[in-house]
Amino acid sequence: MPQDLPIPQEHPKEHHEHQTLKFPDGFLWGAATSAHQVEGNNINNDWWQWEQDRPFDLRSGQACDQYNRYEQDFELAKQLNHNAHRLSIEWSRIEPSEGKFDSVEIGHYKKVLKSLKDKGFTVMLTLWHFTLPKWVADKGAWENGQTVKYFERFVKKIAPEISQYVDLWVTLNEPGVYIYETYIEKAWPHAKKSWLGQIKTFLNLASAHKKVYKYLHKTFPAGKPVGIANNILSFESYHKHSIIEQVAVSLNDLFSNHLFYFFTRNTHDFLGINYYFHIRFKSKGMLAAKEDTIQQIHDVSDLGWEIYPEGIFEVLTDFADDLPIYITECGIASTNDDRRNRFLISYLQEVARAIKSGVNVRGFFYWSLIDNFEWHLGFEPRFGLIEIDYQTFKRHIRPSALVYTDIIQHNGIPHSLLRFIGHTVQAEEVLEKRQKEIEKGS
Ligand code: BGC
Repeated sequence: MPQDLPIPQEHPKEHHEHQTLKFPDGFLWGAATSAHQVEGNNINNDWWQWEQDRPFDLRSGQACDQYNRYEQDFELAKQLNHNAHRLSIEWSRIEPSEGKFDSVEIGHYKKVLKSLKDKGFTVMLTLWHFTLPKWVADKGAWENGQTVKYFERFVKKIAPEISQYVDLWVTLNEPGVYIYETYIEKAWPHAKKSWLGQIKTFLNLASAHKKVYKYLHKTFPAGKPVGIANNILSFESYHKHSIIEQVAVSLNDLFSNHLFYFFTRNTHDFLGINYYFHIRFKSKGMLAAKEDTIQQIHDVSDLGWEIYPEGIFEVLTDFADDLPIYITECGIASTNDDRRNRFLISYLQEVARAIKSGVNVRGFFYWSLIDNFEWHLGFEPRFGLIEIDYQTFKRHIRPSALVYTDIIQHNGIPHSLLRFIGHTVQAEEVLEKRQKEIEKGS
């Protein structure tokens, strides 16, 4: 028997770091909403008008009654440890008829925004989130070049009144989604098939952003960052070597993700990314079409949208340049809250990975703080960290909201949550203690 065989050492102990996956200091943690989806009774806009022809349960009606309950909602967000909040103001309340500004409604929004500031939130304010005053829609909505002037006049009226309460301005929400739903899906007000209408709308929205960007910078030299919130999709080809599919990926990436930024270049202080979609292209003959994920084994939300955390890493790295990035929306519609737990942990893990590889991400706004009116789909999709009982308007904190709080308190994802990826997250168990603290008001 050979003498010099190494004596087997005791196997070195496996080393677990058990560390929190940290986010940068000063990271903004919050949630987002939009006025028409939560306020209720926005009777002077194009959506309200359009909803009247639809079944009752698809109308916004009182929505979440946040117009009257904003104090309670902001209080809950504060208890959940959010340090930032994204919301929008409703143009049709402030200027219900042409050139006539309602001082009571301006006063209302001042109170709303002041309430957020008093609670210590960093406020991100969206100036246009899909709805138009009916009088603007009647004149041709964004197809009408004059709408750029109307919007500018509205901003010039409201911005000086509220600027002291706003930290970041978002001029427009998702120009591309608006055009897609109005002109391609024909699911939103003003619906019609018109290539010319689409192009005019695109150019007018780009012009509106540029004008308002310049105005805000000129008027408020203290320099509060101005940007847009843009729906950015992650595209993939089904077969990695299919040229047809690759072409589909490149064209869609160009038109959906980059074109608006190109037309508005040099007028963004940050990039606002709304991330929801991962689209796979599969060739059919000489063309490539979107693959229907519901038919596949992929994990999907209640709306059939694929759960694909890697996609947020991909879009963040694609958009990484000199500008800071805020994830202005990202969320899941699910009545199974455990899926929201896994969603939060796995998507934020990918955000952390992007940050680690050098992407300058400064904040994350979960969509949405509360369940709300999901446009043409009504109230059924449940995106909220907080559940709304639409009969009583009672708010109920979902366990996933506490998972998010746990992440916020650690300014990162603690190991105790990371280890749940791929498993069912028993948030109730993990966070029972925190729930009690919240109930006690600490
Ligand atoms: C919009 C929100 C919408 C959310 C979920 C985003 O496109 O900005 O208004 O509710 O996606 O569909």
